[in-house]
Amino acid sequence: MIGRLNHVAIAVPDLDAAAANYRDVLGAQVSQPQDLPDHGVTVIFVELDNTKIELIHPLGEDSTIKGFLEKNTAGGIHHMCYEVDDIYEARDKLRSQGKRVLGDGEPQIGAHGKPVLFLHPKDFNGTLVEVEQV
Ligand code: CO
Repeated sequence: MIGRLNHVAIAVPDLDAAAANYRDVLGAQVSQPQDLPDHGVTVIFVELDNTKIELIHPLGEDSTIKGFLEKNTAGGIHHMCYEVDDIYEARDKLRSQGKRVLGDGEPQIGAHGKPVLFLHPKDFNGTLVEVEQV
């Protein structure tokens, strides 16, 4: 069912410092920060040959990643995103195997303008999983 790893999202307490780490230390191609108010994050995209890293930082008071950073003060891997061909088919298959889809189960438009769903971390080895229809 799943295809490529689309991105790994890392929540960071200091976006500039994180960008500098990837750009200056690791020599990666790093985007300018982009505010995504609908998602409550500011994101910097790190382009790698085979996938992307998304450095995410809370935007606004009710950002969903605020609590994560309170628990993980140095930052940490927030979620992994896997590509699927058909998000409804993926959702129904996951549910039929007892996996919990977060929210109301209707795909939302994600950070790349494509439909996404998030799956409960307790159902996936302690990892928040995003699936994106590409
Ligand atoms: Co994501």
